[in-house]
Amino acid sequence: MQIVVKQGDIVAAEADTVIVNLFEGVGVPGGATGAVDRALDGAIADLIAGGDLKGKAGEVAVIYPRGAIGARRVLVVGLGQADKFDLDGVRQAAAAGIKRARDLGARRVASIVHGAGIGGLDVAAAAQATVEGSLLAVYRFDAQKKKEPAHDIDSLVLVENDGARIEAVTAGVATAEAVVAGVRLARDLVNMPPNVATPTRMAAAAQDIADAHGLALTIGDREWAAERHMGAYLAVAQGAGEPPKFIVLEHNGDRTDLPTVVLVGKGITFDTGGISIKPSDRMGDMKSDMGGAAAVLGAMEAVGRLDIPLRVIGITPCTENMPDANAYRPADVITASNGKTIEIISTDAEGRMVLADALVLAETYTPQAVIDLATLTGACVIALGAGVSAGIFCNDESLRDQLLAAADSTHERLWPLPLYDDYRRMINSEVADMKNSGGRFGGVGTSAVFLQEFTNYPWAHIDIAGMALAEKPGEYSPVGGTGFGVRLLVAYLQHLSDAS
Ligand code: BES
Ligand code: MN
Ligand code: ZN
Repeated sequence: MQIVVKQGDIVAAEADTVIVNLFEGVGVPGGATGAVDRALDGAIADLIAGGDLKGKAGEVAVIYPRGAIGARRVLVVGLGQADKFDLDGVRQAAAAGIKRARDLGARRVASIVHGAGIGGLDVAAAAQATVEGSLLAVYRFDAQKKKEPAHDIDSLVLVENDGARIEAVTAGVATAEAVVAGVRLARDLVNMPPNVATPTRMAAAAQDIADAHGLALTIGDREWAAERHMGAYLAVAQGAGEPPKFIVLEHNGDRTDLPTVVLVGKGITFDTGGISIKPSDRMGDMKSDMGGAAAVLGAMEAVGRLDIPLRVIGITPCTENMPDANAYRPADVITASNGKTIEIISTDAEGRMVLADALVLAETYTPQAVIDLATLTGACVIALGAGVSAGIFCNDESLRDQLLAAADSTHERLWPLPLYDDYRRMINSEVADMKNSGGRFGGVGTSAVFLQEFTNYPWAHIDIAGMALAEKPGEYSPVGGTGFGVRLLVAYLQHLSDAS
């Protein structure tokens, strides 16, 4: 779907479908919706008066102008209550409109920017959210099936009447297109089966990003990791049949004058649990155990496209976690690249192992902030729910506040969880510096303090275990890979670059 920005009157739009909107409780629409209503001789006001249209969130009314305007159908999408309206309301309204348009067979759609009129939102942000909601809602994974692909809309024209707003709308659209490219990539990688989205395939995705936007790329193999004494990462990779790939992408890598942010993503392309094998029921969901890496690669795609003026490093340690004659075992003692030793309690606590060496490597970039994303613990899903919120652990108040602000504007929720010393005591080991599991109770906290042992800078750990793969569709995300984290990371980075 091609996105175009045009200055003009939505009534005169050259499109088969026109999308306008309505707040709940409005009797006679104003603005662009009012203009369409007058051109239709009060058809929208009639629907409202008759109780057929209320303006509730998610509601879509379809009107056939029969020649009164150029378009053959008008969709009026509900925005809900004006006092509860925010950017996510924009994304949801755009999604509801575009999905209905698609289902009705629309090819050329024209829409106003939701929320920039009486909604009172920032124009660029509203335009960005309108396009994000539209593009993300019609995302589909082109599965390996010999069936006819579903119908797609060719173009979406954003029509803005006020010439003074065109620049902001255009900027918002550009941001949205970059962000959506990143989210699509992340969704695709999670949706691919684990025999396709191997570490090698993850490296190929990183190569595409590097080639397209001029990022530097290192793809470390077993030997590369061994030279760097990455014993924790290599322990997990030991049992893998697929060759492990430790991926490092650098945007503005040599610009040490710029603020540096390192993004780290857990890249377990399939988590069987290893020798501490998982039950077979729902084990297939563990193809999403590279959701953190997918989000980091997606964010790097957007960062490259937007050429964000920061030094941004993406590190994704990728490997399978398999049971094998060579696999690491419970009771093994492993030395990570910072020299700390780890007693293996469970080979299923593999995410923190691969992240440990990645977090140690992050320090070599003298970062202002390091953010890791990982489908790390079932305990986080138990605590916060599936598809509800990610958990965030952070050792720096300002970084936490910045990430919470980004979570708020993107509606990629984060809930703060504590890094108590009590958790650290729960992973004390008799034979090593720490255990890789503290047992069932406090499982999300003990995983976080484990990671903390490998950090030495402002750091945030985001546990996305419940967020990477959706069982139920959202307003603008279908079942399957969600791309969770991409929008959050890009919003954080953009705010940071605006502020510095
Ligand atoms: N990848 C899993 C965590 C997970 C669970 C992700 C559910 C997505 C949905 C992780 O590697 C794991 O197995 N964690 C164990 C840790 C335990 C052995 C300390 C868990 O949560 O049970
Ligand atoms: Mn595991
Ligand atoms: Zn895992």
